[in-house]
Amino acid sequence: MVAERGQNGERLVILTGAGMSADSGVPTFRAADGLWEGHRVEDIATPEAFVRDPALVHAFYDARRAYLDAVAPNAGHLALARLEREWPGDFLLVTQNVDDLHERAGSTRLIHMHGELKRGWCLACDDRFAWSGTMGEGALCPSCATCDEVRPDIVWFGEMPYQMDRIDEALRGCDLFVSIGTSGAVYPAAGFVQTARYVGAHCLELNLDPSQGSIFFDETRLGRASELVPAWVEKLLA
Ligand code: APR
Repeated sequence: MVAERGQNGERLVILTGAGMSADSGVPTFRAADGLWEGHRVEDIATPEAFVRDPALVHAFYDARRAYLDAVAPNAGHLALARLEREWPGDFLLVTQNVDDLHERAGSTRLIHMHGELKRGWCLACDDRFAWSGTMGEGALCPSCATCDEVRPDIVWFGEMPYQMDRIDEALRGCDLFVSIGTSGAVYPAAGFVQTARYVGAHCLELNLDPSQGSIFFDETRLGRASELVPAWVEKLLA
């Protein structure tokens, strides 16, 4: 089976979602009540929400950024970093997660398609920069020194995810596509499997529950990412 073969030169694209970090204690987005920690998506994760109530949006993301200090990469993140180091072919890790657990585990060939909690974006000068600690209203841009115009560098609903050209190129050339811990509810990431399938890649899903796009995968393995991912990587590299 291709999902376990690991041939020399095989091109691998991995997509991760909130389920990847769940075993580290980072809450996933789509809880049974459909709320993000008590908030409706449109109240905190849209450009309109930021214009309407910047204090609420900043408070939400400031809390999530602060929470990163209390969590650590799990065995799944570590296994993907090992896979990147040892995989003989092309490798690209695309994450929808805005936490920094993949890079703290050692991943480098990594795209944060939905942005990063630890980065800011100044709407006055359009510069993007590393950010730690609270942002809040009135944050000072380190590039142009404007106050009040810095927002989290997070891709909100209605905005274009980052590096889509590079991701699309990798998907069109991949032999193996693996989706880990994502509900398949949000496009364009939810459509990656269809591109990979179209070019004949083997498509494997590792998730707690079957995702919304489960039928497009050649194979679905159900369980926790911190257990499924290390086991899959071990076999792939064997
Ligand atoms: N191991 C593996 N999978 C898990 C685990 C776990 N321990 N816990 C939960 N899951 C699975 C769930 O079954 C679900 O299918 O992870 C998935 C998480 O789904 P979502 O909360 O919808 O997260 P995600 O798919 O990453 O959301 C995509 O939507 O809200 C936006 O921008 C946000 O990046 C996010 C995007």
